[in-house]
Amino acid sequence: MAVTVAAPSRAVLMECIRAGVLAPSLHNSQPWRFRVGRGRVDVYADRGRRLSVLDPGGRELMMSVGAAVFTMRVALRRSGFVPRLELFPDVDETDLVARIGAVRFAAPTAAAEVLADAIPRRHTNRWPFARRSVAAESLHQLRDAAHREGAFLSVARSDATEAILDLARAADQVLRGRPGYRSELARWAAAGGGEGVPVSAMGPRDRLRTVPVRHFAEVLPFPLPSERFEPHPTIVVLGTTGDTVFDHIRAGQALQRVLLTATSLGLAATPISQPAELAATRDRLAAAMSGASPQIVLRVGHGRTVPPTPRRPLEDALLPSDGRAPSAAPRAARSRRWAPR
Ligand SMILES: Cc1cc2nc3c(=O)[nH]c(=O)nc-3n(C[C@H](O)[C@H](O)[C@H](O)COP(=O)(O)O)c2cc1C
Repeated sequence: MAVTVAAPSRAVLMECIRAGVLAPSLHNSQPWRFRVGRGRVDVYADRGRRLSVLDPGGRELMMSVGAAVFTMRVALRRSGFVPRLELFPDVDETDLVARIGAVRFAAPTAAAEVLADAIPRRHTNRWPFARRSVAAESLHQLRDAAHREGAFLSVARSDATEAILDLARAADQVLRGRPGYRSELARWAAAGGGEGVPVSAMGPRDRLRTVPVRHFAEVLPFPLPSERFEPHPTIVVLGTTGDTVFDHIRAGQALQRVLLTATSLGLAATPISQPAELAATRDRLAAAMSGASPQIVLRVGHGRTVPPTPRRPLEDALLPSDGRAPSAAPRAARSRRWAPR
């Protein structure tokens, strides 16, 4: 019997990459590179773009790559292919995080269309949210989105919300005192050149310091205005059962699925990653989550429309199709492959 192998064209794969780079990344560092092969794209971690003060172990770098991988899966599904994903497909290339190809053709599902529509509309929102609660059904859908990617989302009750915001404030203070913090922030705040967080995306300072949104503006030569944020933010924590590099990639994919789902529901979101960036506060966050590994805190709500952030020119992130590996790498973790649901 003849077997039909689905091989997406180069044009389709380039569309996937164009979608992938719209994913969120820590400080908009865009720590990824892509190599288009026959019927597949290889996604590499660009470790030169790691934030060494905030993310010395590269956990958030891998989450950012995971977010791009999920976005590419959605784009491929929308193009009529059921994606096939392999993580660390080559033991000799540790920076080769994912290989995305196709298992077979299939018309896009309504769910894939909804997620794909949200890709260019999803933006990090650092402005005050309306004093309106998030519907229980929407929170259920966000939980389900995380679950579908093998992660879970815990919605904080009001006492836990206060405790998590306290941890975030405490972590933020410690991180800001770390040597190199300001110069790293200055590297990415208003960086220009299609990377970093532009002034237009920084949002105002919270006048009452209720919501510890990352203060990108502190390295600007001028202050940004302050506003009152919502007094009772809705806080959720995304976690995984383990804390390996596979869990970090899983967390990134789940994060993007949650964010795209939120966008499709008309919800805004702000990642608040400080409490997971410091061992002491991360441990305390874990204790509040039955021992699971917290990967990121999110604030969700009803927000105003915000502008997109820039991306690097695509050529900067493209590796030659038949070239060598971008860097010599020590032997890698095991290869894992599966066809996504
Ligand atoms: C792993 C990760 C951690 C992040 N942490 C924060 C954070 O602590 N504070 C924040 O304001 N934004 C955070 N972000 C959002 C990024 O700054 C944002 O994705 C990037 O600037 C690109 O902008 P966009 O999301 O609007 O496309 C994080 C994103 C990722 C993927």
